[in-house]
Amino acid sequence: MTRFDLFAEDALYGTQGFYTQLGTAGTDGADFVTSPETSPLFGACVAAYLDQVWHDMECPEPFVVIEGGSGTGTLCRDIFLSAQDCSKALRYVMVERSDRQREIAFSRVTTTCFADSEEVPLAVLQDLPAGPFTGVVVANELLDNLPPRIVRKATTGWLELHVENGAEVWYPAPQPAEDMASAMAPNASIGATLPLHLKGAVWVNRAMKLLDRGRILTFDYGLESSEMFDGRPLGEWLRTYKDHRRAGTPYSDPGTCDITCDVAFDQLPGSPTICLQSDWLASKGLGTMTEWAQEKWQDSAASPDSTAVAARQVLTEAAALTDRTGLGAFLVAEWQIGD
Ligand SMILES: C[S@@+](CC[C@H](N)C(=O)[O-])C[C@H]1O[C@@H](n2cnc3c(N)ncnc32)[C@H](O)[C@@H]1O
Repeated sequence: MTRFDLFAEDALYGTQGFYTQLGTAGTDGADFVTSPETSPLFGACVAAYLDQVWHDMECPEPFVVIEGGSGTGTLCRDIFLSAQDCSKALRYVMVERSDRQREIAFSRVTTTCFADSEEVPLAVLQDLPAGPFTGVVVANELLDNLPPRIVRKATTGWLELHVENGAEVWYPAPQPAEDMASAMAPNASIGATLPLHLKGAVWVNRAMKLLDRGRILTFDYGLESSEMFDGRPLGEWLRTYKDHRRAGTPYSDPGTCDITCDVAFDQLPGSPTICLQSDWLASKGLGTMTEWAQEKWQDSAASPDSTAVAARQVLTEAAALTDRTGLGAFLVAEWQIGD
């Protein structure tokens, strides 16, 4: 038997793991779609945010942006393509665990964004670098991919999820896990199940220690621990995906699908400010960025030319990013480090 987080770690990142072998974000032949893959407008809003932070911090140089779980580099590419005041000071580090995605990302971003591939302000690493840096650590849909431990309240105390022969089994939780579960869910009823995001908390902690001054910004689906266990079955917040569709249980055929968990943000260290992605994007100028498309589509909807069709595509993408039943309901958490 294997503890669930160790099982999921291997199923995602082991030698036969989903991310090691196949898993990519995107629209074409990929397994799931993320905000950067939905529209370059997402990267443009993050670029506007970076500019805002850079000015607030009195224009540090270098201004280091570290992206955790950068996948195939789409967000990085779109940030570099959205030229901003901070561009000259920007040094970008993509941190991606999958060797294959790191290779794709570096070549994609350098060939798309830079004429001279010898002089790119870009590095690609397997793990977070050693600091300290002044700048921003950003991550889209990383925390949900850091496998949690999972516990369930029973009459005898807390049990912990394990996987044995392709099936879930529950064993008494060790004392530290039991203590953490009791602290996060003191009023849990019998049968309540919740994730313990130890890896997510460690990642945020490491990101905080990386910066002498700056911000951490994460985008992910999530809620509070209390909402998680409040009658929501395990399969609702621990999900699997393959080929753009929900897949079956995570226990059989490990390595063939993504395993992802809603993030209980109250388990992360520090005191981030949290808002909905739809509101955050609006605050970074999404409305202004799409005004031209709105006007063009209104004027030409009756007999659309190619620009009007492109405008409608932009509006469709903006709607997807802000849809409050989808990506727009993601939570954006921001930690301020130093001034
Ligand atoms: C859901 S994908 C998101 C990719 C990209 N950020 C996007 O939004 O399209 C999560 C990515 O995080 C990577 N990852 C998981 N754990 C990581 C870690 N500890 N450090 C760096 N990357 C990690 C995975 O390999 C995967 O590419």
